[in-house]
Amino acid sequence: MKIITDIKAMQKKADELRAIGKKIGFVPTMGFLHEGHLNLIREAKKRCDTTIMSIYVNPTQFGPDEDLDDYPRDFDRDCSLAEKEGCDIIFHPDSKQIYPDNYLTYVEVEDITSVLCGASRPGHFKGVTTIVTKLFNIVKPHVAVFGQKDAQQAIVIKKMTRDLNLDIDIVVAPIVREKDGLAKSSRNTYLSGDEREQALVLNQSLKMAEKEIKSGERNAEKLKSAIVDLITRQPDAVIDYVEIVEADTLAPVTIITNEVLIAFAVKIGRTRLIDNIVVQV
Ligand code: PAJ
Repeated sequence: MKIITDIKAMQKKADELRAIGKKIGFVPTMGFLHEGHLNLIREAKKRCDTTIMSIYVNPTQFGPDEDLDDYPRDFDRDCSLAEKEGCDIIFHPDSKQIYPDNYLTYVEVEDITSVLCGASRPGHFKGVTTIVTKLFNIVKPHVAVFGQKDAQQAIVIKKMTRDLNLDIDIVVAPIVREKDGLAKSSRNTYLSGDEREQALVLNQSLKMAEKEIKSGERNAEKLKSAIVDLITRQPDAVIDYVEIVEADTLAPVTIITNEVLIAFAVKIGRTRLIDNIVVQV
């Protein structure tokens, strides 16, 4: 596995791969890899000849009071995990290259970035769409794989790709969970043992809501209240948002008639966790 840190070198490598007809699959990450990320490599490898993973903790998607400085990092471990999974290239740039002095250009998707996580993390998606566009221009992939764990992010990236006519297939892979149901996340390392136990309520509440819908509940407000009630039974859980929206547009839903996305962000202690489920009716 090759490690490339220089933008120009990465672009040259991508050009060479394209020139010999290789299909490039791309997995953007912020590192501290877990099974969720590794599964994205597998999805890329199924579809492509060469798999490139980026590892870069992107400062522009973190708010001023968020965990940029604390974000867990272990580059050597990431490299050995990615290599074991058959990743071909790791692109690992530094911020001086990505955002040089006097950097002025941002990519912004409107509307769908101001709800859910966008409402509580202003500027977050602007940072995400900017770095993903830059990475697309550096790695030049045919296919890019994202996780359903960040459901809104995946929808925003798909919209950006369509709106900007980027010639890249966006693939969304399912959420990978721990055996007990907790969605894998680099941020799970922040949880104490007790908080980790409390966090199990997240997946449980999604399962409860899914069951309710399957047995005929159609009232989104009622379901949201039931989710809030269940989650806030945990002593250290503070709800950021709970939303039920159309699965492809993120438009609000009052009466459930179609496929819906149930998504939330919840702080357990100091750790903000997100989770979601798509339910068909
Ligand atoms: P990061 O949080 O490192 O996640 C990288 C990719 O892994 C994202 O597409 C995310 O949805 C996916 N992922 C994380 N946990 C997952 C899980 N349990 N199951 C399935 N997929 C999972 O998302 C980002 O980084 C950044 O915003 C990025 C796109 C790299 C831009 O900086």
